[in-house]
Amino acid sequence: MSEQPPPVLISETDIDKRVRELAAEISADYADKGNVVLVGVLKGSFIFLADLSRRLSIPRTVEFIAVSSYRSGSVSSGAVRLVMDVRGNIEGRHVLIIEDIVDTGHTLKYLIGMLKSHRPASVKTCALLHKPGSAQVEVPIDYIGFGIGNEWVVGYGLDYAEHDRTLPYIGTIDPDDQ
Ligand code: PRP
Repeated sequence: MSEQPPPVLISETDIDKRVRELAAEISADYADKGNVVLVGVLKGSFIFLADLSRRLSIPRTVEFIAVSSYRSGSVSSGAVRLVMDVRGNIEGRHVLIIEDIVDTGHTLKYLIGMLKSHRPASVKTCALLHKPGSAQVEVPIDYIGFGIGNEWVVGYGLDYAEHDRTLPYIGTIDPDDQ
């Protein structure tokens, strides 16, 4: 594991600015929809969800969901398994899935289908980061923080083998150096 902190890809200041912009956009879009259910996807979304949720100006509830994706090294097999479902009843509610990153798209595609089976009023998606170059399946992302390239990113909730998850910024690492 490298001793040097990962180089900055997106700074704390830029994240903060973008999170505020997303919160304003979401607050405007959901202004007349009553209480929105924010569904954070563990573990990666926990910091983004904490910051975004506190900047919304609409009534909201927080739920969490956990999935396990099968990967061989950094390569997704596309198979996703539900580890923990939402606890509250989301039937008839407006649901906004909160992801730290959409990479191949398999996780979000699975989650949209799974959450729709609870018969919510609507399901929309919000991802802080999107890697369009890695997409394997088409999936709608209604709110995107930043589009990035194919670099491996850590920090602000994202990890590399559980390292660097709580870095306050988004950094890049080279998995071959780890
Ligand atoms: C990451 C991320 C997304 C998923 C995106 O989770 O938080 O949930 O991968 O990848 P995909 O678009 O290729 O499906 P990860 O499996 O690393 O788990 P973690 O959030 O617990 O770190």
